[in-house]
Amino acid sequence: MTDENAWWKEAVVYQIYPKSFNDTDGDGVGDIQGIVEKLDYLDDLGVDVVWLNPVYESPQEDDGYDVSDYRAIDDRFGSMEDWERLRDGLHERDIRLIMDLVVNHTSDQHAWFTASREDPDGEYGDYYMWMPGEPDDLPNNWGSCFGGPAWRYDREREEWYLHLFDPTQPDLNWRNPDVRDEVAELVDWWLQQGIDGFRMDVINFISKPEGLPDGDPDQDWVGLDHFANGPHVTEYLQELSERTFDQYDAMAVGETPNVSVEDAREYTGDDGPLDMLFHFEHVRLDFVEKDWWDVGDWHVRELKEVFSRWQEGLADEGWNALYLDNHDQPRSVSRFGDDEQYRYESATALGTMLLTLRGTPFLYQGQELGMTNYPFDSLDEIRDADARNRVLGALDAGKIDSFESVKDVVRYRCRDNARTPMQWDDSENAGFTDGSPWLPVNPNYETVNAAAERARDRSIWTYHRDCIALRDDHDVLVYGDFDHLVPDHEQVFAYVRADDSERVLVTLNLTAQDALVELPVSGAVEQLLGNYDRDETDLASLTLRPYEAQIYRLS
Ligand code: GLC
Repeated sequence: MTDENAWWKEAVVYQIYPKSFNDTDGDGVGDIQGIVEKLDYLDDLGVDVVWLNPVYESPQEDDGYDVSDYRAIDDRFGSMEDWERLRDGLHERDIRLIMDLVVNHTSDQHAWFTASREDPDGEYGDYYMWMPGEPDDLPNNWGSCFGGPAWRYDREREEWYLHLFDPTQPDLNWRNPDVRDEVAELVDWWLQQGIDGFRMDVINFISKPEGLPDGDPDQDWVGLDHFANGPHVTEYLQELSERTFDQYDAMAVGETPNVSVEDAREYTGDDGPLDMLFHFEHVRLDFVEKDWWDVGDWHVRELKEVFSRWQEGLADEGWNALYLDNHDQPRSVSRFGDDEQYRYESATALGTMLLTLRGTPFLYQGQELGMTNYPFDSLDEIRDADARNRVLGALDAGKIDSFESVKDVVRYRCRDNARTPMQWDDSENAGFTDGSPWLPVNPNYETVNAAAERARDRSIWTYHRDCIALRDDHDVLVYGDFDHLVPDHEQVFAYVRADDSERVLVTLNLTAQDALVELPVSGAVEQLLGNYDRDETDLASLTLRPYEAQIYRLS
């Protein structure tokens, strides 16, 4: 939905993965009280919104994306009173709170599913995507996101059920109006608890097409074209938004795999049900033929092409959600930057891009510290259902003979790269826990940690704080137009953000080599922020050092 000016357009969002943020009770798993203890940290950084990954009651087969009770806080994370303390502590600091809405599927331990599998004719019988059939005859060829078929045969009900993710995550049947009522009620319930919106998990998967047709078998995720952006998705979301989000001034950001800019205009434009959405184009650049197992090179020009196309495509209608990291992606400094020699330079250059493009920036915990990927050595160190299912499935099917043979690709892609504990200081377990952490702490914690980073001269943390403050002070960085310069340049991403009162130039060298660029803009420049000192700037012939980022006011 496009509102001219809106709080969620002006906000910088900070995503917290509670399991790995801060543990206060020594069980090795982060908790809500742990976030409460770090509220001043968030306030100092200057973020406006916190997005909390799922903290609902859950068996944690997919780290909380398998919800067994939407209205209860999981014991591992604390109590409802802890959650209220968090909400109030954030609000006292003028930080809003959004939660994660996981309603494409539930956990198989949810009471609805238990009832549904027990009694096909009962109240909950039609809450899920059940299909009749023989145990050896899959209803269609759709695949699960985490590998293997998207169907499981349930011996109790003697039918198949659909699970686009893990078998413990059965898909809800949104065709059933009772399911839509349940979802509206739970959304409303949370909004009444005082939250400020939701991030909506794989929300464009909720409408499956009539007849559940087979997908193209050569697709990496078979069936995706059918279940993404299905026939009734806009209608269902519109209905939900009218009943809930619209009644509050709440923010709705959809996670939406397989969307084009065109789709995004519909979802987030004037009549669309969402405020903004996460697309996946830039995080697919390092896939070969969309194949998870094949890591390819990405090029600066492609990255620029994706971002500028989305900037331009949503210039008049809709709104961008901007991200480089989240709990499902490897660390951006390891992926798009250089996590060794140029860790400071590349982390800050990427941060500059995130915070100066047009859209709402989403920072993920640890990104402000330049946290890096983890050197996984064995499958035992990995909890991520995605990587585990894929590796175990491939071992089972005899496609690979050892973890060792795919170690490099798993290390690169594994979602646990983002989920290792937050590195607070150089004490044991990086100050995350007094117990034994649920995932290993990155061995680089003695140098990469919040305390050290905040104290350093060339500090990734301070740079992010300053860049957030700059965005707060310059409306043009929120609402101004985006004008892409030198689109064909192989190393430099440069653009001007402009409104009636100001023009701001951003120049980013996204490579580890010097880059010479001639920028087609003139006028005097005043440096607003940069990750290198610079005395002189000649826009007609500018040499940017490795990962140099500069933000200038043009006059
Ligand atoms: C989304 C979540 C991811 C989860 C999946 C299934 O992609 O971000 O973590 O595994 O949905 O809920």
